[in-house]
Amino acid sequence: MAVIEEKTVNEVKKRIGKALEIVGKFGSVVGFISRVEPAKVSEEERTITIEVPFKEYLESSLKGYCFPIGSFIGILNPLTSTVFLAKVVSVKRSDILAIAGIPAIHTPPSDITSLLTPLTIEVELLTEAKISDEGVIVETPIPAHSPIDPQSPVFKPNPDFIFEMLNLPKEGVDLGNLYVGGIVDDSVNVKLPENILYQHTLIVGTTGSGKTVLLKNTALSLIQNLQNKKPLVIAFDLQGDYMHLNIKNPRLEGEPVFKPVNTLTVILPVTKSFLENYVKPKLLEKLGSLKEVNIAGIVKLFYKTLIEEYFRNTYPEFKVRKAKIAYKPDGSKAYVYAITVEAEITVDNSKSECVVNIVPWSLNFRNIGYEVRNLLPIFSVQAYNLIPRVIDYIKDRHGKLSIGEFTEKILDKTEVRGRLVYNLERDLGLHRETVNHLYRCFSILCQTEILDARLEIEVNGGRYVIVFEEPNYYKLFTETENILVIDLRFVSMFSKSQFTETVVVYRILDRLFAWKNEAFMKGIETRPVFIIIDEAHNYFPQAGGEINKDVVERMVNKITRLGRVRGIGVFFATHTPSDLNDLIIQLTNTKIGLRSEEKVLERIGLKEFRKELELAPEGVGVVKSPALRTHYIMFKSYEPQTYHKTYV
Ligand SMILES: Nc1ncnc2c1ncn2[C@@H]1O[C@H](COP(=O)(O)OP(=O)(O)OP(=O)(O)O)[C@@H](O)[C@H]1O
Ligand SMILES: [Mg+2]
Repeated sequence: MAVIEEKTVNEVKKRIGKALEIVGKFGSVVGFISRVEPAKVSEEERTITIEVPFKEYLESSLKGYCFPIGSFIGILNPLTSTVFLAKVVSVKRSDILAIAGIPAIHTPPSDITSLLTPLTIEVELLTEAKISDEGVIVETPIPAHSPIDPQSPVFKPNPDFIFEMLNLPKEGVDLGNLYVGGIVDDSVNVKLPENILYQHTLIVGTTGSGKTVLLKNTALSLIQNLQNKKPLVIAFDLQGDYMHLNIKNPRLEGEPVFKPVNTLTVILPVTKSFLENYVKPKLLEKLGSLKEVNIAGIVKLFYKTLIEEYFRNTYPEFKVRKAKIAYKPDGSKAYVYAITVEAEITVDNSKSECVVNIVPWSLNFRNIGYEVRNLLPIFSVQAYNLIPRVIDYIKDRHGKLSIGEFTEKILDKTEVRGRLVYNLERDLGLHRETVNHLYRCFSILCQTEILDARLEIEVNGGRYVIVFEEPNYYKLFTETENILVIDLRFVSMFSKSQFTETVVVYRILDRLFAWKNEAFMKGIETRPVFIIIDEAHNYFPQAGGEINKDVVERMVNKITRLGRVRGIGVFFATHTPSDLNDLIIQLTNTKIGLRSEEKVLERIGLKEFRKELELAPEGVGVVKSPALRTHYIMFKSYEPQTYHKTYV
């Protein structure tokens, strides 16, 4: 063995002494890198062994800390002035006999002292960074690759060290707290920076795993944390969950991380049967209270009835303080634009004051034109391409029609040489099956009941009509404060088609994109828009059956690929990613897995977390994102920051 100069030995001693002096800045020392196991770091292997002396092991166990699997450990390598962050992958306790390799048949009677052995921990190295002599991290941490010397001190890291070594984003949307070894570390926030949100996010998790709570908190976090950019959050809401973002959570102890919003703007799609069966009977009951029957009086009754019924179905207890309606009378007709309600909402004796702007919404077939083909993903490719010609053909002959009238015209026939043929066959050369297919698709559009919806009231021989159309989208998207909820609850309840929600979602996404795109083309900056699509498999299914995947994928492409540079960030969530269109899996750069089965995790590339996630508590998840230096991180979302229906 070569003789080592005294100078070198002294230098090593000095460095080790220095390391022990400064290590306290990063955490509390709990052990040392093993002297008996080589500390090998290679391309494939980043696992090394740590020995925690029995005394330290005992002390920390008495404090309730036993190096749980998945928890973080820090290492300071004195000779290279490098610190490491590592994750515990295994923990081993051995009797002295096991260490000495004594066979079981020679086991002597029990002896407590033979238990006083070190704890052996295997850790996986994550990141490393150089430190100054003063113990300050002086560079951005990078993936671990440098050697580690035996006997280097090992410490239980403090939150600042973890935060810095994981190189966690400091700004952005706040998902919750770091979750390590089954414990929530509420001193470390897990955030996603704004730029990565435009590369879109997919959240999966079984029912009850906490997807909606995470999304609702995310909406509030976006509004609060990106406040200076005045972002608009648009949430498609099937269950009325997002309608509660304006109510305090009465079960929350202490101050919430995110405050409820003061104003909610709601698009309320109204179908014919919603108006006929939900609103009209109650309105008729009130007719007697009208002093004078005219359109203004009918509109007044309408909005009072709507507010009462709608609030009753949305909020546990409420008091309307003030309400008004924006509408335009036109003879015995009225066009309704918006209803503004100031109300006090009470949940478990906790009161919240808020403003709810309700925008009743229906599609006017005459205004949609060829766009209709992008709203229903079941037009065949051929029918899709023919729609402009068919629409023009029927319009030339009959003028602009309602959806019902138009649909019937598709089947118009003429006798040709003693045989009845469709006019579309004769004049446009369409195949008979294509005409039938078009008829079927347009009939489905009729069954959605979301086109040309109007409320007709006959009283004292007079007929009054309230008409619902689309809003001025430019005003809606530029002026809505904070959040726009698309309330889809009544759409599924009051319609005869399973595609009604899709029609609404596609139309609003299309109009949103059109607004963004126009501004983009003119070089005008617009506010960032974040879209929340819970239960996304409903609207963006896998190809198969009668679904025309081109229509689905065109919409996905528009909002994700083209949306990215136009300042649109989308959050998709689903409990069945196998039903979700593949393109969404490809086009979401950040994936979040909450409690899920292995198969589900595999589909989103999180299979290696199956052990952690198969039985994870509500709100616990793994986020995998290019924004994170370590690529993955476990977190627990905040408990519901606003009232959540199923929260017990
Ligand atoms: N971070 C959290 N902390 C505490 N409890 C939570 C948290 N997240 C969710 N929960 C609880 O889990 C319940 C279910 O959450 P949530 O409604 O978000 O589930 P989900 O995944 O959306 O389910 P579904 O697929 O049925 O809609 C909530 O009512 C709440 O009680
Ligand atoms: Mg949910």
